Parts: sequence; structure tokens; C-alpha cells
Amino acid sequence: MIKVDNLTKRFGRHLAVAGATFEVEQGEVVGFLGPNGAGKTTTIRMLTGFLPPTSGSATIDSLDVGRHSVEARRQIGYLPESVPLYRDMRVREYLQFRGQIKGLKGKTLKVRMDEVLERCGLREVRRKMIKTLSKGFRQRVGLADALIHDPPLLILDEPTNGLDPNQIRSIRHLIKQLGKSHTILLSTHILTEVEMICDKIVIINGGKILASDTPSHLVSTMRAAGRISIEVKADPEKARERMTSLDHVRKVIYERSRDDWEEFSVLVESGTDTRERLARLARDEDWPLRSLHRHDATLEDVFVELTRKD
Ligand SMILES: Nc1ncnc2c1ncn2[C@@H]1O[C@H](COP(=O)(O)OP(=O)(O)O)[C@@H](O)[C@H]1O
Ligand SMILES: [Mg+2]
Repeated sequence: MIKVDNLTKRFGRHLAVAGATFEVEQGEVVGFLGPNGAGKTTTIRMLTGFLPPTSGSATIDSLDVGRHSVEARRQIGYLPESVPLYRDMRVREYLQFRGQIKGLKGKTLKVRMDEVLERCGLREVRRKMIKTLSKGFRQRVGLADALIHDPPLLILDEPTNGLDPNQIRSIRHLIKQLGKSHTILLSTHILTEVEMICDKIVIINGGKILASDTPSHLVSTMRAAGRISIEVKADPEKARERMTSLDHVRKVIYERSRDDWEEFSVLVESGTDTRERLARLARDEDWPLRSLHRHDATLEDVFVELTRKD
């Protein structure tokens, strides 16, 4: 559905997007995750045909967004970062206006308006002025606008930004529902949002794509694989040395001493479980052992690991 190939954008000497390459398949809900300034909005503006790339290409449904921008845009429902709504229009009026701009008219337009008002939970407020709506409801109007021409693809740029926790919940719920019938690219800097909504995740930082995978696959194949906590009574330096020498152990960090018990974090390679060998080591070395447990890597760990400046 979306193919981004070596997409690059320079603003003067600043490289905002540096050779981004990724794909979104039909039906997927993909999280486009990166910290502020990563290049998400710039990528999205190129994808939606609003900003010409410096080099590289983007296609929507095999249509080049530069050469066939009108046809490509017809496939896309775009919710920009800040929606320029007309504050003095009523919700229904605004959607009618937006639908007309997108080429709808007559019966089709009426049917589409009813459909998006229903889907976005706007029926009750359809006669209200946009300026009297809460930020959460305004965001719904933005979504309804994105949906009015019935596009198969939604591109949403940080749709929950600036909303309060209840509004965030209901917008996320709405996006999840829309994901059942649409392909979605959802940009966000919030990791839990991606974990809650998306089937796939594309990570961007400093204009570069760092990873593109399913959340669970990312977690299980990352270097930041697993961490084991262990508490023993032993000489800290010697214990650290002995544990470090075990197979599949990447690093042993001495955390703290608590009433003669020494606590360590043992970082192990992905897919391995070194608890048994640690227990055996403690027994062989005659170290009293009080706790031994494994923490699986979370997406947060993966993200920190990927975006860490080594
Ligand atoms: N019109 C512009 N002119 C100059 N620099 C820009 C412009 N738009 C974005 N940038 C820069 O490009 C980088 C990426 O910005 P952006 O795509 O908005 O990031 P994100 O949406 O991930 O927060 C930032 O360093 C930003 O300052
Ligand atoms: Mg942005």
C-alpha cells in the first residue's frame, strides 16, 4: 500500500529525513515511532504529496505521490499534526465543505457525511460550532474529515498529542476500530500507543529508519534482550568476574549491597535464559542465593537501545 524508497529531505544544510525506506502492507496498522524532531512529520508530508522530496520516492498503491499526486491523495485520509479547522463553522457544515473540496456531491456526499459522523461519534455535536468543542472532539472532526472521501489508507500524525487522558483513550479506541477496515500509518512519540494499537512498528530517529518489524519480534531479536537480577552473598568483585565468564552473558552490573546481600543485573543475549547456570554457579561457589529472576525486554528497552547514541 505504501512504499517508501530512499526518501530524503534536506532543509538547507539540515538533513531532516535521510534515505528512509519502509513499506506498509494493505490492512496493516503501522506505528511510526520516534522522538520529537526525528523526521516523522517531514516523512508524512512527503508521503501525502505536500512536500517534494530532495531525492528518493514514495508510492501509494503503486502511484508515485509526486507524479500522480491527485490520484495518490484520493487513496489517503490525512490527519495533519495540527488540524486547521474552521472555528466558526458547524461540524456538519465543515464536513460538507471538506467533502465538496474532495469532489463529493449530492446523495453521495450526504451518505458519506452521515457515515463519518456516526463512525467518529459526532452525531450529537453535528450542529455545534467547532470552536465550542473540546480538543478531543475537534480531533474527531479532523478524523471525520480524513475519512469523508472513503480512502482505504489513513495517515495520522500524532493524533493524541495535546489531549487529556480520557480523550486519548477514546481517540485510541476509535483508531483501533478504524484499523479493522483501513490501512493505517500512525505517527507517535509514545511507545505504549504503538504497543496498544499497532501490528507493526517503524522506528525513526535523526531522520534514519532504525527498525521495521512487529513489536514482539523486535523485542525478541534485540540486543537489549534480557536482564536477570540475582542476589547472592559473595565478594562483589569476584562474583561479578565469575558471572561474566559464563556463556551468553554480555555484561554484569553490580547494583547494590543490602544487609550483606549483593545484587547484580546480568545482561544476557537474546533468546537465552541463563538462570539455571547462574544457580549452578552459586552452588559451586558456595554463595548463598536469595533471589534470581528474569526481566523480559520491553519495547521501551528496545527503543532506548536503538536510539542510544553510543
Ligand atoms: N520547514 C522546515 N525547515 C527547516 N527545518 C525543518 C522544517 N521542518 C522540519 N524541520 C526540521 O527537520 C527535523 C525533523 O522535523 P519533523 O519532521 O517535524 O520531526 P517530528 O515530526 O518527528 O517531530 C527537525 O530537526 C526539524 O527542526
Ligand atoms: Mg511531528
